[in-house]
Amino acid sequence: MKSISLDITKAAQFLSEGAVKAYEPQVKAAQEALENGTCPGNDFLGWLHLPSSITPEFIAELQSVANTLREKCEVVVVAGIGGSYLGARAVIEALGNSFAWLVQDKKNPTVVFAGNNIGEDYLAELTTYLKNKKFGVINISKSGTTTETALTFRLLKKQCEDQRGKEEAKDVIVAITDAHKGAARAAATKEGYKTFVIPDNVGGRFSVLTPVGLLPIAVAGFDITALVNGAADMEKATGKDVPFDENPAAIYAAVRNALYAEAGKKIEILVNYQPKLHFMSEWWKQLYGESEGKDGKGIFPASCDFTTDLHSMGQWIQEGERSIFETVISIEAPEKKVLFPHDDENLDGLNFLEGKRVDEVNKMAELGTRLAHVDGGVPNIRLSVPQLNEYYLGQVIYFFEIACGISGNILGVNPFNQPGVEAYKKNMFALLNKPGYEAESEAIQKRLADEK
Ligand code: PA5
Repeated sequence: MKSISLDITKAAQFLSEGAVKAYEPQVKAAQEALENGTCPGNDFLGWLHLPSSITPEFIAELQSVANTLREKCEVVVVAGIGGSYLGARAVIEALGNSFAWLVQDKKNPTVVFAGNNIGEDYLAELTTYLKNKKFGVINISKSGTTTETALTFRLLKKQCEDQRGKEEAKDVIVAITDAHKGAARAAATKEGYKTFVIPDNVGGRFSVLTPVGLLPIAVAGFDITALVNGAADMEKATGKDVPFDENPAAIYAAVRNALYAEAGKKIEILVNYQPKLHFMSEWWKQLYGESEGKDGKGIFPASCDFTTDLHSMGQWIQEGERSIFETVISIEAPEKKVLFPHDDENLDGLNFLEGKRVDEVNKMAELGTRLAHVDGGVPNIRLSVPQLNEYYLGQVIYFFEIACGISGNILGVNPFNQPGVEAYKKNMFALLNKPGYEAESEAIQKRLADEK
C-alpha cells in the first residue's frame, strides 16, 4: 500500500540551512510529552492511539446503526457544529459526487448538515425541504448544550415526530454525546434514542475517528473500516520511534514552526486543486486555528480552492504582503477520466490539448503556480495523496492531527483547549437574558448604553 508523502524542499529554501532539522530535539520532546501524557492538555489525548484501538466489533455496531438509518431514511440530517460536524462533512464531500444534491441516488440517503449556524432562512429552508420526507437525525454535541445544535435539534425532533410519529421517530434519531451529562444525553435517555459516547479524553476537533465522524460517513455509504485502517497506518508511520527524517508529521510540524518563528510567515494557506476538498480545508482550519491560536500566538490558518481562487486571491498571494506560506494537498490520480475532444474549427484554440486528460492540465496549473508563487516569495509545502479514497483520507486526517499536537507543543501552547470560544457565548447569553446570566446582562446593557 502506498502512503501520503511530504515535500518541503520548496519551503526549506526560504530558511537557513539546517533550520528544519534544528527542530528535531523539540519535536522529540513534544512526541515524548504526548506519549507520556506530560504535556499541557494531557486529559485530551484520547485521539493519539484512537485509530489502532478501534475494534472490528465497534465498527460493526456503527455500521448496523448506519444501516438502519440508510434503510429508513431518504434524508439524514447531521446536527452539530465545529468538531461535531466538520470532519464528517470533509470526508463525505471529498468522496461523494460533486452534484450529490442534484443526483437522484437511490442507493444512499442524502446527508445534509445543520446545527452549525443560527441562520433563520437556513432553518426555514431546511424544514421546508424536509416536509413530507422520511428523514432521520444524528444529533452530535459533546457538551450537549451548544446553542446552534440544540436549537436546530429542537426543531428537527418536533418535525420528525410530527411526520413519522413518536415511536418511529425514536428509531431514526441517534445521539452522539457525553456519557452522562448535557441536554442531548438527557433527551436521548428520556426518549430512548440509540446513543454513542464521545470519549471524555477526545476533544471535538480531534473526534472525526469517533462515532462523531464515523457514523455520518457510514450513513453516506463510505467504507469506515478503510478510513480507520488508513489512520492506523499513519499512526504507525508517525510514531515517536520513527526517525525524524522519515516522519512526515514531525517534519511538517518543524517546518511550519520554522517558517513562523524564523521567516515571519504568520499565515498558512491550505490549498487544494480539487473542489471536493473544500471542507477538508474547513476541518483543517478548525484543527489548527483552535489548537494553536492562543496566548497571543499561532499561525493563522487560511485556505484556497485552486484554480478557482487563483482568479480571486491569486493576486494577493503572488504580490501581497510576504507573510504567507502554502501547503498544497495534491491528489496524484483522479478517480474518473475526461479527455479533451477534437474540434475541427478550433475556435477556442484548444486543439493542442486534444486527447489529453483534464487532470494533466490541472497538474500543469499546480506546477506553474508553485513555480510562480515560490518566485514571488511564498514557501511551498506539498502533501501528495495517491488517490481520493477512504484509506488515504484516513492517513491525511491522522497526519494533520498528530502534526497539530506536535506543532502546538513546540509553539508552547495547550493545543487541546479553546478558552477563547466562550467569550462570544457569554455575551450572547447575557444579551438574550438567559437565566443565570443576570449580572452579565446588566453589565452588557450598561456598556452598550455607554457606547451610544
Ligand atoms: O473542537 C471543539 O471542541 C469545538 O469546536 C466543538 O466541537 C464545538 O464547539 C461543538 O461543541 P459540542 O460538541 O460540545 O456541541
